[in-house]
Amino acid sequence: MTLDMFFDPFYLKAIVRTPDPFRHQAPGFEAEGIARTALRGVYRQGATGLQALGELRFRNFGVNRGRIFSESAGIMTRDYLNIRGFRIYRGLLDTTEQAALVEDLRGVVAQAPMFSPMTPYGKPMRVRMTSAGKYGWMSDKRGYRYVTEHPDGRPWPAIPGRVLEIWQELVSAERGPDCCLVNYYGEGAKMGLHQDRDEADFSWPVLSISLGDEGLFRIGNTTRGGKTESIWLLSGDVVLMGGAARLTYHGVDKIRFGSSSLLEKGGRINLTCRVVD
Ligand code: SIN
Ligand code: MN
Repeated sequence: MTLDMFFDPFYLKAIVRTPDPFRHQAPGFEAEGIARTALRGVYRQGATGLQALGELRFRNFGVNRGRIFSESAGIMTRDYLNIRGFRIYRGLLDTTEQAALVEDLRGVVAQAPMFSPMTPYGKPMRVRMTSAGKYGWMSDKRGYRYVTEHPDGRPWPAIPGRVLEIWQELVSAERGPDCCLVNYYGEGAKMGLHQDRDEADFSWPVLSISLGDEGLFRIGNTTRGGKTESIWLLSGDVVLMGGAARLTYHGVDKIRFGSSSLLEKGGRINLTCRVVD
């Protein structure tokens, strides 16, 4: 999203030039117009114009709240790589944040232990998984689906606040995810090319957070087959799969076991947050 800003002691006026396709927009959202912006945080007028030192929250027409970061006279959102419509935020989480998130996940796994699901075709999946949130993702002979309980019969634990904060920053402050799927890739684990299509509303992106060992992430097309592109996802990288790429095939070909020291015993954790219904 690009914004033109005009300084006023009481509010900032921002003209939204381009809608951000990854932010969920209520029906009727106008892509271009003037948004009054409540000023929070600390600002000063620098040599190049207005500089934001703090964080700015804004609301467009009362339907789309977002968070933007300003580094100079211009407004910048966070940098990302764009591969076939997937946004890859390199190193969004620093090592301290990654370690804190791993601690949070220990709490999740204590309440909802990892399990090895079976594919509908009766083969064990190579990744181990669990979930947090209202729903957990499940696979067995009955198929792929979301369920409200862990296989041990208990509800899934809450999604860690740290994960929700990342969602709020990159996706929406209005609506949280219903499911945070936690995948663990041990040595030799991989995930075949697939679409994420068990959700009711594809206008919400899937947000993915990578922790631990590097994983070779493959991005295909919205239909099976065709050329693909691959990128190594590193610990702390965050990917948004949304907009026209929401149903793009993707998978993980392999991990570089032991390439990161984040997890004592090695391996890769990937969190995917989804709006389910
Ligand atoms: C997934 O597609 O569910 C996982 C992707 C990843 O592990 O990076
Ligand atoms: Mn997926």
